[in-house]
Amino acid sequence: MDKFVVRGGNPLVGTIRVSGAKNSALPCMAAAILTEDDVTLENVPQVQDIETERKLLASMGAEVELGYGRAQHRTTISCRTLSDPVAKYEIVKTMRASSLVLGPLIARCGMARVAMPGGCAIGGRPIDLHLKGLEKMGALITQEHGYLEARAERLHGAHIVFDKITVTGTEDLLMAAVLADGETIFENCAREPEVTDLATMLTGMGAKIEGAGTPTIRVQGVSRLHGVRHRINPDRIEAGTFLVAGAITGGDLIVSNCNPAHLGAILSKLQEAGARIDILNAETVRVRADGDLRATDISTQEYPGFPTDMQAQYMALATQSEGVSQVRENIFENRFMHVQELVRMGANIAVDGRTATVRGRTSLSAAAVMCSDLRASASLVLAALVADGESILDRVYHMDRGYERIEEKLRGVGAQIRRMGNVFASREEIVAVK
Ligand code: UD1
Repeated sequence: MDKFVVRGGNPLVGTIRVSGAKNSALPCMAAAILTEDDVTLENVPQVQDIETERKLLASMGAEVELGYGRAQHRTTISCRTLSDPVAKYEIVKTMRASSLVLGPLIARCGMARVAMPGGCAIGGRPIDLHLKGLEKMGALITQEHGYLEARAERLHGAHIVFDKITVTGTEDLLMAAVLADGETIFENCAREPEVTDLATMLTGMGAKIEGAGTPTIRVQGVSRLHGVRHRINPDRIEAGTFLVAGAITGGDLIVSNCNPAHLGAILSKLQEAGARIDILNAETVRVRADGDLRATDISTQEYPGFPTDMQAQYMALATQSEGVSQVRENIFENRFMHVQELVRMGANIAVDGRTATVRGRTSLSAAAVMCSDLRASASLVLAALVADGESILDRVYHMDRGYERIEEKLRGVGAQIRRMGNVFASREEIVAVK
C-alpha cells in the first residue's frame, strides 16, 4: 500500500490543472450500455474508480479502450454485445457507484443482476430509491444470494417523486427512462452538475430530456439511442480541494481547466474566510491568502449548497482560521472520520452528532495518519501541507480512487509531497533511507 510523505510549510504558487470529474465520468460510462454504437468520452480522469468501471463494463462483454499518448483521457466504449449483464460482487464491493449500471442494463437488456452494495465507511448509503423508481417503471425486482435481479421486457414511463434527493439515484433512473415506453416525470431530482452532464450526453445520443439541473426532469422515451462523442465536465471537487490548498498555505494559486460556475458555494465560503478570489475567465480561478483566515460556518447541502464532498477539506481550513467554525454534515451520517486524524495533528475539534466545532487557529504538527475515505484523505493532505515537519499518510489508495496524480500536481506548485511504496514499516525507516 502506497503512502504519501508530506513536508509542510510551503505556500503553493503557480498554476494547477483540474481533471475531468470522476462523478460525471462514472454515469457517462454506464450510459454507453444504452447503445450498440461506439461512445467516445473525453476528459476522463485517470483514477482508480474509472479503472474499476472499465473492468465492470468489460466483465459484461463490453469493449473499453482507454486512450494513451495524445489520446490520453479519451475512452471509447462499445457495448455492441453485452453477453453477461451482471455487476459482480467483487467489483461492486470496491465501488458503490457500480449500482449505476442497474437502470441502463434493464433498459437495454431487459434484465440486470447487480450485487447488493454492502455498508460503506461514510454511512449506510442504501439504493432503495433506485429500486422503488425502477419498480414504478415496471421492473420486477427480486433478491437472492446477495444479488438484486431486475427484469422488465420494456420499462414504461412513470411519475416518480424522490423521497430524498439522490445524485446517483437520479442518474440511474434517468438512464432507465430514456429508453422506456412513454413519458417519465421525475420530481425532487438532484441538480448536481454531474446530472446535467449525463443528461447532455444522453441528449447527444438521441434521448429527449427536459429540465436537467432543475428539481423536475421530464423524459420522453425513445426506442433507440445512437453513439456520441462527449466531453466530461471538470471536477468541481478537485478544483475546490486545490482552492483550499491555495488558501490554507497562504499561497497564490491559479486553478485552471475548472468551471467557476459550478463552484459558487465553495468560492463564497473561501471569500467569507478571507481568501481573495478572482475569476480570471470561464475556466480559471485565482486564489490568494495572506495567512489571515477567519472562522466561518458551513452546512452541507445538495447542489447548489455547500458539497458534502468538500466538508473534510473545509475542516482542515477551519483549523487554520481564527475563531470558532461550526461544520454541519447533513447528507451522510458518518462522515467525520478525518476528525480524529486532524486532532492527532493538533487540531481542536469536538464532534456532537452531525456538528463538528473547530476552534482555530491551532498550529498543526506532522504525524503519521491514516486515510479513511476519498475526501478524508484530501483533508489530511491539506493539513499536512501546513503542519510543522513531515507527515506520513497511509492508505492513499483511497485518494487514488478519485484524484488523478495529486502528488505530481501539488509538487508542480511547490508542495513537498512524494509517494512511497509500502516497503517500509515505520516512519523511522523512511527517514533512515532519505
Ligand atoms: C454521490 C456522489 C458522492 C457524493 C454524494 C452526495 C457519485 C458517484 N458519488 O453519491 O461523491 O458524496 O452523491 O453529493 O456521484 N439515499 C437513500 N436511498 C437511496 C439513495 C440515497 O437513502 O436509494 C441517501 C444516502 O444514504 C444519503 C443521501 O441519500 O444520505 C444522498 O445520497 P446520494 O446523493 O444518493 O449519494 P450517491 O449518489 O451515492
